[in-house]
Amino acid sequence: MATFSGLNLLFFSFFIASGAISVVSGTVFTIRNNCRFTVWPGILTGQGAQLSDGGFTLSPGASVAITAPAGWSGRIWGRTGCNFDGSGSGSCQTGDCGNKLKCNGAGGKPPATLAEFTIGTGGAKDFYDVSLVDGYNVKMGITTQGGSGDCQNVGCVSDLNAICPNDLRVSNAGNVVACKSACEAFGKPEYCCTGSFSTPQTCPPTNYSRIFKGACPKAYSYAYDDASSTFTCANANYAIVFCP
Ligand SMILES: *[C@@H]1O[C@H](CO)[C@@H](O)[C@H](O)[C@H]1NC(C)=O
Repeated sequence: MATFSGLNLLFFSFFIASGAISVVSGTVFTIRNNCRFTVWPGILTGQGAQLSDGGFTLSPGASVAITAPAGWSGRIWGRTGCNFDGSGSGSCQTGDCGNKLKCNGAGGKPPATLAEFTIGTGGAKDFYDVSLVDGYNVKMGITTQGGSGDCQNVGCVSDLNAICPNDLRVSNAGNVVACKSACEAFGKPEYCCTGSFSTPQTCPPTNYSRIFKGACPKAYSYAYDDASSTFTCANANYAIVFCP
């Protein structure tokens, strides 16, 4: 068996260095909880690997950094009022993904505020937004870190639960814990942009989506709210903050 030669060591060092570079080149999501209550983030991957088994606990003041590979797409939301046992089974008042801490491919039950990302490949732009299309449960903001282009900080930093119309409210023990979208509450084509309302031209804002838009101008208030709600940035990292 050969002993390590100088060349082997050089090769080995290069191997370590290139490994380190590939870790740095991913997109870092720093997920932080600025709320006074615990939030249980859920992550649903559309394209690419599962991140952090799709869910974890985030105490008030805590933050976690997660690296997503180029080309990754998915959504991140916050679950509130959860009760999990030691094996990670249990449920949440809002955003529940099927009675488990680690969502692992399961989506969150609406209403829930969503942060949505499509990470570019080879230096191409990332697309990101905060969406209220599936309703609202907790304040959420996205802040870009570094990057180039029209990199804007976006989100829904108002308390929509406090101004939620009566017919959209989800309550628990007398408190409004989430606010449904009009589509979810009424299922009508004009709110869901389906049937004869299935194009951006035929699905204008409604009295309900206007309440969402007024409170959170930099978030998607309904399905065809695109023009003012999708943002781009190249080669950035992102902070996703609950109660920013
Ligand atoms: C929105 O409009 C519908 C239909 O005109 C009406 O029934 C409903 O009360 C309105 N809701 C709000 C919150 O303005």
